[in-house]
Amino acid sequence: MDPKEHIDLEKLPSHVAVIMDGNGRWAQRQGKERVFGHEQGVKAVREITEAAAELGINYLTLYAFSTENWYRPKEEVSALMKLLVQTIGEETKTLMKNNIRLQAIGNLTDLDMKCLAELKEAMRITSGNDRMTLILALSYSSRWEIVEAARKLSEKAYHHQLDPPSINDDLFSQCLNTAPYPDPELLIRTSGEYRLSNFLLWQIAYAELYFTPKLWPDFTRNDLYEALIDFQKRERRFGKITS
Ligand code: IPE
Ligand code: IPE
Ligand code: MG
Repeated sequence: MDPKEHIDLEKLPSHVAVIMDGNGRWAQRQGKERVFGHEQGVKAVREITEAAAELGINYLTLYAFSTENWYRPKEEVSALMKLLVQTIGEETKTLMKNNIRLQAIGNLTDLDMKCLAELKEAMRITSGNDRMTLILALSYSSRWEIVEAARKLSEKAYHHQLDPPSINDDLFSQCLNTAPYPDPELLIRTSGEYRLSNFLLWQIAYAELYFTPKLWPDFTRNDLYEALIDFQKRERRFGKITS
């Protein structure tokens, strides 16, 4: 039976986040350069984005490049930036066809000018689409985002625009890059690593975590369905008890 048929469409997570890991190992296992793995990873991005939108997921956040990834060899970084520019440019048509809005989180000013320009243009063109929002985490790290939020709040307090006792969960969330989106209910990480690598630490406080040994370029729509089926079997208690 098609795994898709086991998914309860009434109980889909509204927001799924993915740490797309394992591109380099995927390529190296075939005696190829790491960059080849990133190129193949783009195909998986396309497939998973389409599958998520078809199911009716509202938000899909993909961790594409971390602030720490800047410290990789400069050849890999520039190949990744080139691939990003090319992919964003080429995929805008597909996003329009699928009615998907593109957004981004992260320290975007660190991206090279060409990349930032492509990204802004794609976000502008797709801004009216409303089937699903695809959020790319680019030059993103959670600690960076949280420190930025703390900085914004302390500046406001310093200028007497904010009373410190009024700082609460909601206000803090509103200062994060992810302010417009609900918290992810499901976080998927590929490649068999059991860590979060500085991704959405605040937002996944109560997310269900799903780890798979599959390397990102091998991750297919059926793997997404399996993750959703697993998610739907879990009991989410949020610290309470079931009566
Ligand atoms: C994930 O794959 C993509 C990025 C971090 C840009 P990796 O490049 O981390 O691949 P592995 O984990 O080294 O195999
Ligand atoms: C996390 O993968 C970042 C992205 C998927 C973009 P990394 O490969 O950078 O993380 P570590 O080094 O395994 O923790
Ligand atoms: Mg990795």
